[in-house]
Amino acid sequence: METVRTIEETRREVRAAKADGKSVGFVPTMGALHEGHLSLMRAGRQETDFLVISVFVNPKQFNDPKDLKAYPRELKADAEKANGVGVDLIFAPSDAEMYPKGAVTFVDQHRLTERWEGAHRPGHFRGVLTVVAKLFNIIEPDIAYFGRKDFQQAAIIKTMAADLNMSVEIKVLPTVREPDGLAMSSRNVHLSEDERKQALCLFRALSRGREMVEAGERDTGKIVTEMKQFIDGNPLARIDYVAIADPDRLEKREQVEPGDVALVAVRIGKTRLIDNMILLKER
Ligand code: PAJ
Repeated sequence: METVRTIEETRREVRAAKADGKSVGFVPTMGALHEGHLSLMRAGRQETDFLVISVFVNPKQFNDPKDLKAYPRELKADAEKANGVGVDLIFAPSDAEMYPKGAVTFVDQHRLTERWEGAHRPGHFRGVLTVVAKLFNIIEPDIAYFGRKDFQQAAIIKTMAADLNMSVEIKVLPTVREPDGLAMSSRNVHLSEDERKQALCLFRALSRGREMVEAGERDTGKIVTEMKQFIDGNPLARIDYVAIADPDRLEKREQVEPGDVALVAVRIGKTRLIDNMILLKER
């Protein structure tokens, strides 16, 4: 496994692999790798011949400068983990390599980006879409892997790939959780002991929502109210949003339908966490 810093070297490596007839898998990340990231890499390792990951803390998708500054950076440990699951190439560019002065083109998307995470984090999805489009152009993967943990992000990227005729297959894989249910996230390292306990309220509220649906409840107003009450029972928790939406356009629902997803964003102390759960399986 090699770690390269430049776009030119990355292109050279990937094109050499393609010239050998290899298929290319790609997992974009911001590093601080955990089992969630590694699950995507394991899938890529199984399904493609040459597996590339990127480790780039993308400044353009951080709407909060404090969050950007505090974001964990640990490339050496990341490289060891990636090597352990059989990654072939790590692309770890500098900010200047990805955003040379004078670049004025960005990728934007309407509708889907305006709700939930988009409403709470202005400019976030424009930053995500722009960097993912650039990474796709640099690596030209056959398959790219994303986590369902970031449900709205995955939906937005699928839509971009379809709208802009990108020749990459997007695969979205299940959320990997800690044994107690907390979704793995690079931001979990910021949680104090008390916060870590209360952070479980996201998963518990989602599970409560699903239980209500399993018991026959379909009224999203009632379900959301109960989920919010549950989260508010935790003194360190501040809700950004709790919503039930359709899984494609992420529009708010009145009545739960098969495939619908519950989305939650909660601040636990200073750390903002998101999670989601499908409430009712598609028939
Ligand atoms: P990052 O948060 O590092 O996540 C990289 C990928 O890992 C994303 O597709 C994310 O959904 C997935 N992931 C994170 N936690 C997961 C978990 N617990 N289970 C399964 N998958 C999980 O998402 C980003 O980076 C960035 O926005 C990026 C797409 C790299 C663009 O900068």
